[in-house]
Amino acid sequence: MHPAYDLADVSAVLSPSLVLFPELIRKNIARVVEMAGGPERLRPHVKTHKTREIVRLLLAAGVGKHKCATIAEAEMLASAGAPDVLIAYPLVGPNLARLVALIRAFPNTAFSTTIDDPDATRALSAALSAAGATAGVVLDLDVGQHRTGVPVGDAALALYKLAGSLPGFTLEGFQLYDGHNHQPDRGERERAVRAFLAPVLDLRAKCEAAGLPVPRLVCGGTPTFPVYAALTDVPGVECSPGTFVLHDAGYGPKYPDLTGITPAAVLVTRVVSRPTPDRVTLDLGNKAVAADPLLEKRVSLLDFPEYKTVGHNEEHLIVETAGAANYKPGDVVFALPGHICPTVALHKEVLVAEGGKVVGKWTVAARDRVLTV
Ligand SMILES: Cc1ncc(COP(=O)(O)O)c(C=O)c1O
Repeated sequence: MHPAYDLADVSAVLSPSLVLFPELIRKNIARVVEMAGGPERLRPHVKTHKTREIVRLLLAAGVGKHKCATIAEAEMLASAGAPDVLIAYPLVGPNLARLVALIRAFPNTAFSTTIDDPDATRALSAALSAAGATAGVVLDLDVGQHRTGVPVGDAALALYKLAGSLPGFTLEGFQLYDGHNHQPDRGERERAVRAFLAPVLDLRAKCEAAGLPVPRLVCGGTPTFPVYAALTDVPGVECSPGTFVLHDAGYGPKYPDLTGITPAAVLVTRVVSRPTPDRVTLDLGNKAVAADPLLEKRVSLLDFPEYKTVGHNEEHLIVETAGAANYKPGDVVFALPGHICPTVALHKEVLVAEGGKVVGKWTVAARDRVLTV
């Protein structure tokens, strides 16, 4: 177990609780700034932590550009003082009016959003121009994940031209999000990025030749971050990892090129039952730790004998271990979540530990779908 997780007295800590370690968060931020070659080459995604306090740690490290997926996250970022917020999510329906409300409510923040559909882009332009507002638009390119975005090619060029012809927009560039690239081998990850980068740069040249600026390429998440960080020859690259702030337990062993980034959030759980001689049941159900990883990867119990996770219900995690006899109800166990981002969103508040002690609480503010707009 990392020495920083060693809390002196957890007798009064409720379980299950998620405990964050700001000292490790600061180190993770510093390491990513260092790898990127400066804070201006970063646009971290806020979805991992959704807290104002961590936004402020990023701002203090010189990171002014931020990315998010929801209007609530965008509002939380703006209210924490972020000067530049990209909502990297297609805005449709009532979210158009919410974007306009955000722009009005936070005049000191420049907002932008991604586009990938001509009709939705026209609707966005109409909503902004009817309100006399402007926002940046970033063309979402589908570089292989096939989740959102336009394939790199003529349709992308046509959509960027359309955006350039509509009122209410400033053209901000392209998004290249490649969540499908998580090859453990750095060379393979790099080859996968290089394979789509050449056509993207060709598209950029065509847009620029048509008089349409492409000032930035907003690239990737945490697994491909080291690859984009090293692309210093491509102008305007902004790396948009999110997970690194709190980091996933499995990433350290899986991606050796992400050195110096440490999981900064630990779950405190207690044994609540010993139902059979080889079973230990913990109060770490799927309402406290995200259930999207496979059962065996859902949590890593720290300083715990070899075990197999055999069940996970709303309030119970059941493990089998030959060392079960060493545990009794009430014993505290520390655990790393297998997937930190949705785990944070299960907690209204997180505890904060410094110097081996719990010193306070942070609210996971953008866990709510709506703040004020
Ligand atoms: C569009 C977009 N950008 C960036 C990220 C951050 O990726 P990661 O969680 O790998 O750091 C995500 C993650 O979901 C994303 O959807």
